[in-house]
Amino acid sequence: MTVYFIGAGPGDPELITVKGQRLIHNCPVILYAGSLVPEAVLQGHCAEQVVNTAELHLDEIIELLRQAHERGQDVARVHSGDPSLYGAIGEQIRELRTLGIPFEIIPGVTATAACAALLESELTLPGIAQTVILTRYGTTSPMPEGEQLHDLARHRATLAIHLGVRHLPAIICELLPHYGADCPIAVIHRASWPDQDWVLGTLADIEAKVATKDFRRTALILVGHVLNPGAFAESALYDAAHRHLYRPGCG
Ligand SMILES: C[S@@+](CC[C@H](N)C(=O)[O-])C[C@H]1O[C@@H](n2cnc3c(N)ncnc32)[C@H](O)[C@@H]1O
Repeated sequence: MTVYFIGAGPGDPELITVKGQRLIHNCPVILYAGSLVPEAVLQGHCAEQVVNTAELHLDEIIELLRQAHERGQDVARVHSGDPSLYGAIGEQIRELRTLGIPFEIIPGVTATAACAALLESELTLPGIAQTVILTRYGTTSPMPEGEQLHDLARHRATLAIHLGVRHLPAIICELLPHYGADCPIAVIHRASWPDQDWVLGTLADIEAKVATKDFRRTALILVGHVLNPGAFAESALYDAAHRHLYRPGCG
């Protein structure tokens, strides 16, 4: 018996790995984070127990996993995007280790990747930004020291800010001194869902643009000059003069 933590992807049921889908189809027990995972992702399952864990607390979830273990039944534990990011799997893993219940993690397409795809953007452009910082903004759980947005902004890297759409004015204030008013920023709502929507603007005008929408949750904020790069250098990877293992004779 194994508990499979499965990344369901950002919403589109086709953006799940083949392995994740196969496990969902075969596991007799499914626990899914229904606040972000659409039921369409579960289509084709033949599980005898399917539980939306959105309303359960940790102890209740662990109890369901423990009962499945006792019955010798594999569990598909389905989380949105990639489970390693803001998925609260760490605390579940800790409990499973204590109980001696085996588990495996199946990665998924994270929201940041889906949003970059929607914007037709590369988040790492030569000479513009070579670093992406995935972070969150929120007031419910405090950020560790040194990880306040203004600390991260000093790097001027591409930023992917989760859980922050309701704090957009505060986010803009923290970013402005480091990125400048003309820096592109996008707010993407439910990327890859049928009702996906987004706005692209600058730190100067994004607040007014978002005010015309109803983006209250499940929105990601992407910030950085990669979103509107103008001229940028070509990569070394496809440079005709660049020799490497797969193109030893070129140049
Ligand atoms: C609890 S976190 C889960 C992140 C997830 N594990 C991942 O890898 O994408 C939820 C936040 O991720 C972002 N998010 C998740 N899915 C999204 C989507 N389809 N479009 C835009 N943002 C999304 C939003 O900021 C949302 O509030």
